[in-house]
Amino acid sequence: MKTVIEPFRIKSVEPIHFTSFSERVQLLKDASFNPFLLKAKDVIIDLLTDSGTGAMSSNQWAGIMRGDESYAGSESFYRFESVISNLTAMPCIIPVHQGRAAEKILFTVKGGKGKYVLSNTLFDTTRANVEFSGAQGIDLLCEEGKQPALVAPFKGNIDLIALEKCINDKGAENIALVIITVTNNSGGGQPVSMANIRQAKQICAACQIPFFIDACRFAENSYFVKLREEGYQDKSVLEIAQELFSYADGCTMSAKKDAMANIGGFLAVHDEKLAEECRNLLIITEGFPTYGGLAGRDLEAIATGLEEIVHEDYLKYRIRSIEYIGEQLDKENIPYLKPTGGHAIYLDARAFLPHIPVEQYPGQALCCALYLEGGIRGVEIGSVMFGKYAADGSLIPAVNELVRLALPRRTYTQSHMDYLAEVITEVFKHRHQVKGLDITYESPYLRHFTAKFQPVSGDIQPAGE
Ligand code: F0G
Repeated sequence: MKTVIEPFRIKSVEPIHFTSFSERVQLLKDASFNPFLLKAKDVIIDLLTDSGTGAMSSNQWAGIMRGDESYAGSESFYRFESVISNLTAMPCIIPVHQGRAAEKILFTVKGGKGKYVLSNTLFDTTRANVEFSGAQGIDLLCEEGKQPALVAPFKGNIDLIALEKCINDKGAENIALVIITVTNNSGGGQPVSMANIRQAKQICAACQIPFFIDACRFAENSYFVKLREEGYQDKSVLEIAQELFSYADGCTMSAKKDAMANIGGFLAVHDEKLAEECRNLLIITEGFPTYGGLAGRDLEAIATGLEEIVHEDYLKYRIRSIEYIGEQLDKENIPYLKPTGGHAIYLDARAFLPHIPVEQYPGQALCCALYLEGGIRGVEIGSVMFGKYAADGSLIPAVNELVRLALPRRTYTQSHMDYLAEVITEVFKHRHQVKGLDITYESPYLRHFTAKFQPVSGDIQPAGE
């Protein structure tokens, strides 16, 4: 049978509130043209993130009832610890309330002025935590990863030659650590090959630089390795994931992604001394080491989610849903980042809206147009998120101007995907009418969350229902 179906039945549903075009015009104005500032109830299909938005299984809900809320030494912690140590083989497992809390602790200990953190691509919160510590983050994405229209199997790879060169230029003693993001979220949800991870680890080991993995989407990455990398076809996704972690000295993880929980995360390391320093910080910021900012019930949901995420029926459906949207867009030659990645479709806003200059944020304009057209909420991953200012105040744009439409796990159905493709196609048909935006307010860190915008001239998009 060729059709891939959702490998679950639906036991509990949440209603969707529908809005009209004219209501959305007002709602978007009220949100200062930043979809982060919309109320969720005013969104029809919410593809802002795949983080914490997945549907939990009946087993996860059962775990929630079982959660042991003891302050210290809770049963739920030991279950959480045993599932993660089976996956990572790391002896020190530190729960945190979400991924960025692990980053904050790790870079407070390992970062600091004069240090560098090298990566394929640092996610925005990771970069912010590196920079907040005083260190500098450097992205060394492979060349294929920088070309949105190129089809290649592992566009998330780190450029190994650039990695060696950067270590030589900056001095190994100044490199706090190397961290590879799997899959590469900011670069299109593209996977990293096992060979690339193995070689990056060898380079780090030769210079005694700690090698870490940002493991948010480890299962999606492992499934791509199974599909695309020679020698892995007969291995289970769990075995592939175990090999992936075996190269790492440590990892950070947001359990809101590939642990299918609504909240949570962890930091895991081999080095006991590093773990002790991290736990000292954990106690003052997150909580006692056997709960780290989480309830016992969250630890249970994460443990079960980590067991469920490696199921291949699930991963097959997951990757296929995104591939399916790509196929619909191909029919209309709509530009998106190819091939489709693990958790999201990334529209190439620069190619979609070539009449809007980067200084007028084509990605943000496209996000607004998708909301107006069909109540779809996505996120700009371009110069609003990653742009910087030169000394003269001019914008240094991001490498790509993308709009990410991230699919929450096990949440939307096939007809939602058809609706999504229809809305994108409709916007594409009247793309010439979409206008650029100016920023009217921004904050110093992670400005995309709270920035405010206004259309450069008149209304953002005169077309309508
Ligand atoms: N690393 C990566 C690769 C991420 O995608 C995220 C979160 C984090 C770290 C931080 O984890 O949110 O639990 O603190 N990404 C979300 C997203 C927010 O929408 O992609 P967190």
